[in-house]
Amino acid sequence: MSQSPYPETNQNPWSESGSKSSSPNQPLLGQSGSDESIQGASQSPEGLGEGQVFEQRHWTMTEVVKDGNLSSRAWGVQALSLLFMALTWSLILSKFPLSNLPLFGYHPLMQSLALVLLVQSILVLQPTSTPSAKKSALNVHQILNLGLSLPIFTAGATIMWYLHDQPGTKHFISWHGTVGTVVVVWSWFQVLVGAASVWFDGKLLGGGAKAKAVWKWHRLSGYVLLPLFFLTAILGITETIWAKGNSSLLLRGAVAASLVGALVLLLLRVRTSKLPKLR
Ligand code: HEM
Repeated sequence: MSQSPYPETNQNPWSESGSKSSSPNQPLLGQSGSDESIQGASQSPEGLGEGQVFEQRHWTMTEVVKDGNLSSRAWGVQALSLLFMALTWSLILSKFPLSNLPLFGYHPLMQSLALVLLVQSILVLQPTSTPSAKKSALNVHQILNLGLSLPIFTAGATIMWYLHDQPGTKHFISWHGTVGTVVVVWSWFQVLVGAASVWFDGKLLGGGAKAKAVWKWHRLSGYVLLPLFFLTAILGITETIWAKGNSSLLLRGAVAASLVGALVLLLLRVRTSKLPKLR
């Protein structure tokens, strides 16, 4: 799978706070015999700058998911995004039987599921501090986005593009459909840039520092895209004629509030120092 844009060495895992870094109370070399022990502990740390240590603790993908997605730090975001999905699914399934779901019915089901998966792909990266954790989290991020979230978003949007292509209907009848189209198309460019900056050590973009610089823009673009996905979902439930005619004001308010709450909590976790400097 992919390579992290960050080299495995010359990183100071102490320089950033975050749960995937070692705690200052932890022995530098870990417990003897534990997986935190430095491989080849005879290796001399000579040549490392002051405060620099080799962080050899290996993070598996399961471990980064447990730490990033399933820890208590993520509960607020998880509860609110799952509430959004539960409310959306209950609305659709209260209107259409699952055994006889019209094509349209799949759209909100798929888009709300894809949004929850997108949230998971962000949570796993927030924050990672050690090279090993970064690498595993980046793998999970790619599997979730490239393998699940984006294909489901695209399939869900394609259903609506197809339905709006039928005689007597037209595209872009709402801000929801317009912003939704923009974010889905933009996401594919986002994936291309992200992949180019990490696959094959970023060689497609000139490698090294150049690829790392582009990765920062990928991160910034992602944090612009994320609110637009949430906005699309809010508009889907508050603006579209179907949703307004088939749901109570209370339900629409609860869906919008759960989305705004989840987004705010996610954005509060962003480390702005990792974004490119605009000035
Ligand atoms: C963030 C996730 C979502 C995305 C990316 C998205 C995207 C889209 C797109 C691209 C269209 C068709 C545009 C066109 O051909 O003009 C559309 C239509 C529609 N979507 Fe969504 N959607 C999302 C979530 C939702 C949700 C949660 C609902 C909840 C009910 C919903 C309800 C609708 C409805 C009723 C239409 C048809 C009416 C219209 O276009 O205004 N969508 N959506």
